[in-house]
Amino acid sequence: MKQRKLLLDVGCRDGKTCIKFARDGWNVVGVEKNPVIFKQAKNKVEKSKEKKFITLIKGDIRKIKLNKKFDGVLFNYVLMFMPRKDALGLIEKIYQKLNRGGELLVRILMFDDPMAIDSKKWKNLKINIKANWNLNF
Ligand SMILES: C[S@@+](CC[C@H](N)C(=O)[O-])C[C@H]1O[C@@H](n2cnc3c(N)ncnc32)[C@H](O)[C@@H]1O
Repeated sequence: MKQRKLLLDVGCRDGKTCIKFARDGWNVVGVEKNPVIFKQAKNKVEKSKEKKFITLIKGDIRKIKLNKKFDGVLFNYVLMFMPRKDALGLIEKIYQKLNRGGELLVRILMFDDPMAIDSKKWKNLKINIKANWNLNF
């Protein structure tokens, strides 16, 4: 049987993306710093069939110690909520945690982008995603 790759989903919110990737065949570590949202993620993951493939960590990605290496790291609309200096430092830290050939996917929204004004348009936003991951769900 093919071994599952390991994905780090930073700022995993309610765990929806973790579940989706686990369904796609990954093992997933989700990190969420907001305790209320983290609880929602816990509940959602606990109820899902994929729960055995998902580990959730409550905390700020800038502060937590990661003792594993990953095949993929996802920052889906997360980096834009922190100061530029922190975001750059974090990319450095995460880079050290990527396995050889691992992929890092960062999606951000620029707040001066007209798309940011009307969230309904986000769905139509075409982003050049280099990693071969399907994020349209
Ligand atoms: C806009 S949401 C995006 C959620 C998810 N990635 C998605 O695509 O649906 C940003 C999430 O990242 C979390 N977050 C922001 N900064 C974080 C940090 N430093 N460490 C961990 N989580 C963080 C927030 O609490 C929030 O749940």
